[in-house]
Amino acid sequence: MTACKSLLSPFSIKHLRLKNRVCSVGHAPIYTQDGLPQERYQRYHEEKAKGGVGLSIFGGSSNISRYSGSIFGQIYVGDDRVIPYFRAFAERMHRHGAALMCQISHLGRRTRWDSGDWLPTIGPSVIRDPAHHSVPRAMAVAEIRRVTQSFAEAAYRCKEGGLDGCELLATSHLLGQFLSPLSNQRKDEYGGSLENRMRFLLEALEATRAKVGDAFIVGVRFAADESNEGGLTPEEGIEIARQLGKRGAADFLNVNGAYSSTTHGLAETYAGMAFKSAPYIRWTQIFTDKNKKYKICTQKEGKWSGLTKTP
Ligand SMILES: Cc1cc2nc3c(=O)[nH]c(=O)nc-3n(C[C@H](O)[C@H](O)[C@H](O)COP(=O)(O)O)c2cc1C
Repeated sequence: MTACKSLLSPFSIKHLRLKNRVCSVGHAPIYTQDGLPQERYQRYHEEKAKGGVGLSIFGGSSNISRYSGSIFGQIYVGDDRVIPYFRAFAERMHRHGAALMCQISHLGRRTRWDSGDWLPTIGPSVIRDPAHHSVPRAMAVAEIRRVTQSFAEAAYRCKEGGLDGCELLATSHLLGQFLSPLSNQRKDEYGGSLENRMRFLLEALEATRAKVGDAFIVGVRFAADESNEGGLTPEEGIEIARQLGKRGAADFLNVNGAYSSTTHGLAETYAGMAFKSAPYIRWTQIFTDKNKKYKICTQKEGKWSGLTKTP
C-alpha cells in the first residue's frame, strides 16, 4: 500500500508536475508511418494516457540523423516534418493530463549498412557490433561535431513540437558506444580515460542545452553497469552520474544496468518476466544516496533526488 501511495503521488521535474510516477519508458512499437508518429502511433500512447500514466516517453530510439539507419521502424527526428505530428501528439496527451517526451538517439554501429539511405555505419572505433554485425567506420572528430549538432537540432524539434522534454539515449547506442571500453578504443581525446569517453555525451548535452534553453527538460538514459560483459564498471557508472549531476548537464537520469550490445546482454537490459522485478532500482537508490554508500554531488553542485536533481 505504501509503495502504491508513492507510485501514485505527484512528482516534479523542474517546472513540470507529473500527476504520478507511472512512466511508460522508451520503446519502438513499430507503429510509425513514413518515419512519423501518425494517428496509430499517437492512439497507442493515448490509451496509456487514458489509463492514467503520468509520463509517456515515446519514440524509442528516434533517429536524429540519416547516418543512423532505421532498422525497427523508428521515428525520424532529423528534419522538421516531424514537428506538426509532435504538436498534435502533445495536445492529445495533455488533454488527459499526461506529459510527453521523446527519446532521441543515434544508433552508431547498432544498425545495418543496408538500412535507410545505405550509408556506412559509424562508431567510436572499428569494432563489430556483436548483435547487428555491422563493422562501423571510426568517426572523425568533425563527424562527432556534426552528430553533436544533430542531437541539439532534434531536441529543438521536440521543443518546437510542444513536448514536455526529451531523453538522449546512450545505452548501447552511439553515445553509449563512446562510454564503453568494449566499443571505444580511440587514442584521441574521445577515448581512453572515462573523462575522455564521456566527452561526446557531455558535448551533446551542452550543445542541446545551448539550443533549447534552460527551461526545456533534457534527460539521459544510460547503462550504469556493464560488468555482465566486462564493459563499464559500476564505479564508472556512478562517476558518469556524478558528472552529469555536477555539471547540471541532465535534468533526469533513466538508468538501466547491463551491456546490451550482445543478444544475451540485451535480454538482461530489457529484463523480462524471467528476471526478478525492478532489477535496476538499486541504481536509483545509489544515485539518490538513499543507502548513504555513495555521495554523488555536494549540496553546492546540485543533488540528485528521486529521479531528478534539485537546484
Ligand atoms: C520491443 C521493445 C522495444 C524497446 N525499444 C527500446 C528503445 O528503443 N529504447 C530504449 O531505451 N528501450 C527500449 N526497450 C526497453 C524498454 O524501455 C524497457 O526498459 C524494457 O522493456 C524493460 O521494461 P521495464 O522497464 O518496464 O521493466 C524496448 C523494449 C521492448 C520490449
